[in-house]
Amino acid sequence: MTAKRPYVLILFYSRHGATRAMAERLAAGVEACPGIDARLRTVPAVSASCEAVEPEIPEAGPVYATLDDLRHCAGLAIGSPTRFGNMAAPLKYFIDGTIELWLGGALIDKPATAFTSTSSLHGGQETTLISMLLPLLHHGMVYAGLPYSEIELMETSAGGTPYGASHLAGTRSDRPLDEHERTLAFAQGKRVARLALALAAARQEAK
Ligand SMILES: Cc1cc2nc3c(=O)[nH]c(=O)nc-3n(C[C@H](O)[C@H](O)[C@H](O)COP(=O)(O)O)c2cc1C
Repeated sequence: MTAKRPYVLILFYSRHGATRAMAERLAAGVEACPGIDARLRTVPAVSASCEAVEPEIPEAGPVYATLDDLRHCAGLAIGSPTRFGNMAAPLKYFIDGTIELWLGGALIDKPATAFTSTSSLHGGQETTLISMLLPLLHHGMVYAGLPYSEIELMETSAGGTPYGASHLAGTRSDRPLDEHERTLAFAQGKRVARLALALAAARQEAK
């Protein structure tokens, strides 16, 4: 069923909470845009054992995303911890299950953006953001990064890139989002929300 109010799906995986903190900040940015909601959803961990299963509902935090959450979103913000310069397997596994949406063109002309967290400063934030962008382009989404009108991009000495918001969590994954990182994640949520409303109106007009 299609939701009455448009929403930006904030789809993320987080093992230790850093990416989740970013997701919550993007959600605050989305909610600051009138007329659109944020829908936070996560994905289950994957296991090398094909018999291992996760409980249907996570012990804490947002519930698991369904294909319908993605199908009916007006925009998407996708977030993953960096894993060897790439997105984490659980998120990739979820995306690999979206062929039905690709066949139906469900995401064409919808805006998307990406965010990530790393333990080291030059540990692959940009490559991870781009790894998440690639399948979204196949889906026909319109990628929105962060423009340099967000002055924190020039000032940050931790996370924040024109490809999307990022966070330096440190080797123990316990460094909180600093002010620059918080501001950029918020701005990114607000931007994707604004674009989601604008592109929804354009798609309606084109019908
Ligand atoms: C298998 C694995 C690979 C990782 N690869 C990288 C990496 O390439 N660069 C990096 O800086 N951090 C890497 N990390 C660290 C995580 O990206 C980092 O701790 C992140 O902040 C965790 O996010 P989370 O708290 O949302 O789980 C890796 C961690 C794991 C478990």
